[in-house]
Amino acid sequence: MKKKLSLIVLGIFNVCMLTWAQTPYQLPKLPYEYNSLEPHIDAQTMEIHHSKHHAAYIKNLNTALQSQPYQNLPLTDLFKNISNYSDAVRNNAGGHYNHSLFWSILTPKQNTQPSIQLQNAIVKQFGTLDSLKKTMQKQAMSKFGSGWVWLIVTDKYELKITTTSNQDNPLMNIVEQKGTPILAIDVWEHAYHLKYQNKRVDYLTAIWNVINWEEVSRLYRASLPAIENWTALTAAKNLVPTINAKNTSNVTIVALKTFETSPTPVFFESDNTKLLKVKMTEMALALENKNKPKADKLELMKKEILDLISKIEQENK
Ligand SMILES: [Fe+2]
Repeated sequence: MKKKLSLIVLGIFNVCMLTWAQTPYQLPKLPYEYNSLEPHIDAQTMEIHHSKHHAAYIKNLNTALQSQPYQNLPLTDLFKNISNYSDAVRNNAGGHYNHSLFWSILTPKQNTQPSIQLQNAIVKQFGTLDSLKKTMQKQAMSKFGSGWVWLIVTDKYELKITTTSNQDNPLMNIVEQKGTPILAIDVWEHAYHLKYQNKRVDYLTAIWNVINWEEVSRLYRASLPAIENWTALTAAKNLVPTINAKNTSNVTIVALKTFETSPTPVFFESDNTKLLKVKMTEMALALENKNKPKADKLELMKKEILDLISKIEQENK
């Protein structure tokens, strides 16, 4: 009896494991209701898009992987070698990733804004947020057939707009312009045809009302190196507390001055980083001066600098 029971339990376990192994990819739940993006994206489009189109990519991906040695890979790893896989894997893995990202960067929340860090990068690359939107819209309009328009972060940590056909994406080793996607717009007809028919431009205008800039900003930050990797800032953070009225060696003064000329990685540039350079130089000049600042004045300058460093770290978390 005991043996029989063990066999039944083992059988159930095997069925579960087999099912799990054959269906590693699953449809993510939307973080909002199908009708939440009305009137910009209608409920019926959302429901069909998510529960039929996206679900089909996942079903087909799991089926396509059954005929190949199963690899328990995150999609992003799969894309690095997508040229080794069948077209079925390429199209359906792309379909799954692209739509998952797309849902995450949409929101019913009104008036979300890019972070200061992302705003700075947008201004540097495109001039204004409006200009970024117009460029993405233009590229989406000129995309022949089905595909996607992307805002990506390149390997030089610059923002760039690019497009891909079908379900390809910038993480795939087969595309010309690679990068880390932080914003994706689906320009397949199934994304807008029910409400907008052939008027792709109306869909591309409306979609900006439901873009989740908070999530796009989070993805942007995640694509950049950690603030700790900015060695000049770490050096400044370590040096400043050691300065006192008696410790005014040339080495310290040179180190303070060097900070001004050391390059700031573009994504860390902000009003606070500019001000920090000014304050570091002011302190170097004060220490050089024959009338050196008194201890309390020096402590105040140190505090000001350390507060700025803390603010910079905070805005780049
Ligand atoms: Fe789609």
